[in-house]
Amino acid sequence: KEISIIGVPMDLGQTRRGVDMGPSAIRYAGLSERLENIGYTVRDEGDIKVEIQERAQSDSDTNLKNLQDVAEGNEKLSQKVDEVIQADRFPLVLGGDHSIAIGTLAGLAKHTENLGVIWYDAHGDLNTAETSPSGNIHGMSLAVSLGLGHPALTNIGGYSPKVKPENIVIIGARSLDQGEKELIREKGIKVYTMHEIDRMGMTKVMEESIAYLKERTDLVHLSLDLDGLDPDDAPGVGTPVMGGISYRESHLAMEMLAEANIITSAEFVEINPILDEHNKTAEVAVALMGSLLGEKLLYGAEEHITPD
Ligand code: ARG
Ligand code: MN
Ligand code: MN
Ligand code: MN
Repeated sequence: KEISIIGVPMDLGQTRRGVDMGPSAIRYAGLSERLENIGYTVRDEGDIKVEIQERAQSDSDTNLKNLQDVAEGNEKLSQKVDEVIQADRFPLVLGGDHSIAIGTLAGLAKHTENLGVIWYDAHGDLNTAETSPSGNIHGMSLAVSLGLGHPALTNIGGYSPKVKPENIVIIGARSLDQGEKELIREKGIKVYTMHEIDRMGMTKVMEESIAYLKERTDLVHLSLDLDGLDPDDAPGVGTPVMGGISYRESHLAMEMLAEANIITSAEFVEINPILDEHNKTAEVAVALMGSLLGEKLLYGAEEHITPD
């Protein structure tokens, strides 16, 4: 299978500078070579054109920041993702802030009634204009994909909704706003917070998540926000929350997804090289992409060298 890399230098879904440089930081961390070494043919589609912050306009009739430009960037992204799926390639989307999930999911969901989504994140990104404490669209992208929010966002791709609540699994949550908690309860969205990860262990969490999605979905998208990881391991993010998923647990999660062979698209978002330590977070992202795409399967566990 061929992999298409799609960069999305989007920073309009939040207010900190630098996350638009995420795609370039990830490429610089050696992404293409890493995937080629696993045996993939990699095709870099370049970056989606996104308006720059200096020129972005905020509407006066809504509290959603940069609404029009976020919507335009996502419309372009959805077309590219749609194209890549049609060509039977694997879309690997590089953020950019998490508002880009709106476009990615809009491109994917055209191809199935039952898109599964793993939302690996400290946050739920389930706010609407009414519940958002910030007006930042990156905190709304999952709600938008459920069909909740401003029509300029929910109608991207020309249809709504993109995903059903019962086809979502959130992993790593530890910072949910009140309205998000209510929505989770009301819609019955499956959530593994840090409490469950600590209590059950990542192995059990992933076993359950995989079994759950396998029985009800056909395509499964991984939307991985680097702030799902602990800030010690992934410091280059705009909204860090302490007490996160470790680097090792994250590799385990990616390896289990690779083994289960269920992931059909992925995005890695919120990498901000300006806030980072020597591009560490992009390097972590690339390492996790390697595991997700089967790097560890190249060496069977049985073949590990053991002292005799
Ligand atoms: N819940 C907060 C908000 O709505 C933070 C969202 C953070 N989202 C993210 N993709 N990092 O503003
Ligand atoms: Mn997020
Ligand atoms: Mn987050
Ligand atoms: Mn730590």
